[in-house]
Amino acid sequence: MRCQTILVTGASGLLGYALTNRLRREADVLPLGFRHAAPETRILDLADPGALAVLDDLRWDALVHCAAFRSPDYCEQHREAARHLNAIVPARLAELARRRGARMIHVSTDYVFPGTQPPYREDDPCRPVNYYGVTKREAECGVAAAYPEAVILRIGALYGAPDVHMGSPLLEEALRALWAPPPVEVDDRVMRYPLFVEDVAEVAAFLLGRDDAGGVVHCGAPLGVTRLGWARLVAGYLGAGSDGLVPTANRSALSALRPLNSQLAVDRLRAMGGPLPRGADGVLPGVLAGCGDWIRSLHGKVTAK
Ligand SMILES: NC(=O)c1ccc[n+]([C@@H]2O[C@H](COP(=O)([O-])OP(=O)(O)OC[C@H]3O[C@@H](n4cnc5c(N)ncnc54)[C@H](OP(=O)(O)O)[C@@H]3O)[C@@H](O)[C@H]2O)c1
Repeated sequence: MRCQTILVTGASGLLGYALTNRLRREADVLPLGFRHAAPETRILDLADPGALAVLDDLRWDALVHCAAFRSPDYCEQHREAARHLNAIVPARLAELARRRGARMIHVSTDYVFPGTQPPYREDDPCRPVNYYGVTKREAECGVAAAYPEAVILRIGALYGAPDVHMGSPLLEEALRALWAPPPVEVDDRVMRYPLFVEDVAEVAAFLLGRDDAGGVVHCGAPLGVTRLGWARLVAGYLGAGSDGLVPTANRSALSALRPLNSQLAVDRLRAMGGPLPRGADGVLPGVLAGCGDWIRSLHGKVTAK
């Protein structure tokens, strides 16, 4: 990798935390967070008008921008704040990165697609079905206009290996369903392709070392599951029962619409010789075997209520 100092925004979040740990093997990393403390993270509100001047005063030659409001339900209900952080800030950061000739990876999402004709390639038309996707698509356009050489890395639903600093919402969701009193209705309609966060970090490290990576790059995992399929997969690897789970296709009236199947085709990453993300069947057994303490602690909290 030719970068010396990499600024990672959202380093107190699931992806930024994994990226910080991975990129530190090859470069200095300046991790930025906001409301939550992660180890050695510098606190900066990127939505603050003065934030860019602060960043401009720091020494860095690469930027991986992960910070965002990533909950579709939150974005639906807080549109102004969501548009500012998710769409306006990335374009400004891209301008800053271009001016100093720094490499940039902007993290985007499979939710820019409508989910009706998977798998999606990088140049397929975008048509988000929820406001989160709208903001992320606006960001892609703003980043590309400000800095055409920037990488726009589209990723799917993330899970990680939980540790003392970081949980894993996708794993937690499955475990809570498995531990809830039956019957538990779980969505069996919307397909997701759970992506191990450390696989994304490998891809980002690879892309930071390439001169020809500019533009959109897809990073998606090959195994698709619904929420129900995911919970059953987790149960299977834990040797737990999942008979209490009941398939449903009903969407909560309060939640934002999700694309039905926004699988990302990874042909460009493959053609570049990049590391391809693994399916959850190849990763989950090891992750679950390594997080027994976290599972027991979560179980204690859930059953104490
Ligand atoms: N998670 C997924 O399944 C998924 C799927 C597709 C794409 N993505 C994209 O991947 C990226 C990373 O997602 P993630 O799952 O790591 O999200 P996350 O765990 O929710 O973390 C979000 C990060 O953004 C930071 N942040 C929020 N408001 C901020 C502000 N005003 N100023 C500075 N930082 C702020 C948070 O800092 P504090 O917590 O310290 O406030 C946190 O570090 C996002 O761009 C998201 O859209 C995620």
